[in-house]
Amino acid sequence: MEFYEVLNKRRTIRDFSNKEVSDEVLKKVLDAAFKAPTNDHLRQLEFVVIRGQENISRIISPVSENTRKIQQAGLEAAEGVMDGDEYAMFVDALPKQKRMLMQSNCLILPFFRQKDYPLCQPADQSSLNYFASVWASVENILLAATAEGLACTFRIPIGNEPEYVKQVVGAPEGYEFACFLAIGYAAPDAHIPKQKVINVEDRIHRNVW
Ligand SMILES: Cc1cc2nc3c(=O)[nH]c(=O)nc-3n(C[C@H](O)[C@H](O)[C@H](O)COP(=O)(O)O)c2cc1C
Repeated sequence: MEFYEVLNKRRTIRDFSNKEVSDEVLKKVLDAAFKAPTNDHLRQLEFVVIRGQENISRIISPVSENTRKIQQAGLEAAEGVMDGDEYAMFVDALPKQKRMLMQSNCLILPFFRQKDYPLCQPADQSSLNYFASVWASVENILLAATAEGLACTFRIPIGNEPEYVKQVVGAPEGYEFACFLAIGYAAPDAHIPKQKVINVEDRIHRNVW
């Protein structure tokens, strides 16, 4: 697939079919992570792949409760206040947060080395580099998956989830967990929310804002 076609095709898809992603395709997609730019040259990324409904269910067990809390508080307050496209996306996405992670049957947990400083207390200009690198790699994964005809979605961990996940998978000290990343094949009737249309010219400021 041509690069700009991949870029335009990549969408967040939260409805998966039951077709399995093969290990071979998964390896290709995860290899793309190691082509992303990285701080300190080292590409200190590790991926835990979880398959099987029981295993995934165990890993994401805090997700439903945490999402339910956001859902109730967030959506009620947001109606009429939020941008219409944003609200429509949340109405579709929030109820699917747990299901989408189960449905693809291929849950990837990207881990990144977070050296010396806790993530939320950046001490100097390099402290957040590890976090930035893992997200550069996640974008590469999303694009590679799109090129392979796959669908992806991810959920940002909240509350107790990072510590819980690290403990369940036995992550070594000094590694952080970026997100719950589901990769699979889109359901035939997968809903894809309308993407906000941005005119790039409006967002480019020449010399001054
Ligand atoms: C930093 C970040 C956090 C996100 N968190 C979530 C999430 O927790 N759950 C979810 O379903 N989608 C999440 N998304 C996906 C966005 O909702 C999605 O990218 C956005 O609606 C635009 O749609 P598109 O990806 O199809 O272009 C997140 C995206 C980003 C970049």
